[in-house]
Amino acid sequence: MAKIIDGKLISQQIKDEVKDKVAKLSEQGVTVSLAVIQVGNDPASSVYVRNKKKACEYCGIVSLAYELPEETTEDELLALIDELNNRKDCNGILVQLPLPKGIDEEKVLDAISPLKDVDGFHPMNVGALSIGKPGFLSCTPAGVIELIKRSGYSIEGKECVVIGRSNIVGKPMAMLLLRENGTVTVTHSKTADLKAVAKRADILVVAIGKPKMIDASYVKDGAVVIDVGIHRMDNGKLCGDVDYDSVEPVAEAITPVPGGVGPMTIAMLMNNCVTSVDLQK
Ligand code: GUN
Repeated sequence: MAKIIDGKLISQQIKDEVKDKVAKLSEQGVTVSLAVIQVGNDPASSVYVRNKKKACEYCGIVSLAYELPEETTEDELLALIDELNNRKDCNGILVQLPLPKGIDEEKVLDAISPLKDVDGFHPMNVGALSIGKPGFLSCTPAGVIELIKRSGYSIEGKECVVIGRSNIVGKPMAMLLLRENGTVTVTHSKTADLKAVAKRADILVVAIGKPKMIDASYVKDGAVVIDVGIHRMDNGKLCGDVDYDSVEPVAEAITPVPGGVGPMTIAMLMNNCVTSVDLQK
């Protein structure tokens, strides 16, 4: 029986720690605030944005909400970002993705001040992570590190295999595991013999975007398995990139879907909002 890594519980602990830090800053007369910008009304984005606002409220972070119409132009969005970059009462800026067609996502993300980029997507922050300088960490991979460490597993010296090489998860995940002194391999769709490589892992992080792709045949006995994927199945239930029922019997520990990595992303976003106050000093 694998230990089930409880992302709900750990994310709650992190939000409570953030809440304490925000309260201490408030005693010193410092307010923490996050601007959340949504363009259009993609239903999934609306759920994410609502949850981000709720988490802000819980932690005592002021959320500045911008719900812009689908027809918003790139120039209008860039003008708003410019205004928020210069506002002293705004610590963090988050533009919910995906953006409507016709708006250049990369241009928009690059326009956010690196000192307010609480998503950690700006090239300056990605670069800072790769050379060990202070900056914002991408929330989902930072959340994975917290899940592993707070569950009592050390990363130092371990064989870590990341399946997936996206800019948002796979690549920063690899950099973070390396920073923790793991021995890191990044695999992807062109990897020859993925099974053999995955089976080397003491810590296996799966972010490949394919429902239930990773079964027990990819997993070493006693591995810690972190599933970043989330998919809605035909029966309405959620599943991850890992075939949980197949892998659970061989793993030392595993994250469930839902309730594993998912809740960590918002908790780490809240944590980044507090970091923003330090970085802006
Ligand atoms: N859309 C889906 N996930 C994310 C995220 O982590 N940040 C932003 N800005 N948009 C998203």
